[in-house]
Amino acid sequence: MADLQWYPGHMTKARRMMEENISLVDLVIELTDARAPFSGRNPDIDTLARGKARMLLMNKADLADPVRTQQFCTAFEEQGIQCVALDARNRRMNDQIRKRVQEACREKLERNRKRGILNRPLRAMVVGIPNVGKSTFINSFAGKASAKTGNKPGVTRGKQWIRLNKELELLDTPGILWPRFDDQEVGIRLALIMAIREEILNEQELAVYLLNYLKADYPEALTQRYGTPDKPLDLSKKEHELFTQIALNKQLIARGQTPDLDRACRMLLEDFRTGRLGRITLERTAGTDMEVEAEGGQAEQELQTEAAGNEEE
Ligand code: G4P
Repeated sequence: MADLQWYPGHMTKARRMMEENISLVDLVIELTDARAPFSGRNPDIDTLARGKARMLLMNKADLADPVRTQQFCTAFEEQGIQCVALDARNRRMNDQIRKRVQEACREKLERNRKRGILNRPLRAMVVGIPNVGKSTFINSFAGKASAKTGNKPGVTRGKQWIRLNKELELLDTPGILWPRFDDQEVGIRLALIMAIREEILNEQELAVYLLNYLKADYPEALTQRYGTPDKPLDLSKKEHELFTQIALNKQLIARGQTPDLDRACRMLLEDFRTGRLGRITLERTAGTDMEVEAEGGQAEQELQTEAAGNEEE
């Protein structure tokens, strides 16, 4: 995992930018990827956003397992973070997000009111790791009608704020958070959702991980997409045989009439990323370990341990 795009120089710069911008806002709107909500969050965000109102958007929820998205939202809300599941490409959730913004900033608004400050809009910034949908969200949320403030002739040069309404202004450039790279499995998930460049891991490695994960958690996604009535997919087989069967069923044949396993791997990754395999989430609320079963009291206990762990980060 050494040659990620986030080498230390990059990270220091991003951190400095974040610290500078966060100091200007009341609220931090953080985006994570609903397909890997833990891995998609930056480990340092709690420190960076200390003292600020917080909101978490589970983006790309259109591609994620809706049941798990709901479980994650509940878990985050239990940590006191307003959470909304979202497809940032459409504006349907805008009203709800605005309401939640007010909710998240209630204490701040209350304080302002007591101090006689009544007409000051809340200021927010959007943050998240690369490719999570920050720009898409800003465009949808702010819309075309919103006027930009600042950087006008005669106005002091500074940050660009997008005025959404008289209650809320958004910093027009999102804060780019560096992905976590403390754990190989997290790295794999981030590569699967394209949050980090996949060259750091080869496609076969990613595809094998995904195949095994799907076998355990979403077997029907595999059997429905790659099996046929007369050639059903036999999930008791090992990876190599399974990819061979997938290649044969999908007529991916290499030269010499052999099954093209490279193409089968690429197809699996592509089908996952585009949602053709259905709505899939790579993590469970119970923990990031594949072996952990998210059921019953044990899951509840693990959820709390996880939440406590996150708080400490
Ligand atoms: P960033 O600023 O955080 O780096 O991310 P950006 O908005 O550029 O979004 C990255 C990609 O994710 C874009 O696709 C965007 O369309 C897509 N995207 C953003 N939000 C959602 C969402 O909620 N659901 C889905 N399914 N996709 C989302 P792209 O392929 O890079 O570009 P394009 O296909 O839009 O041209």
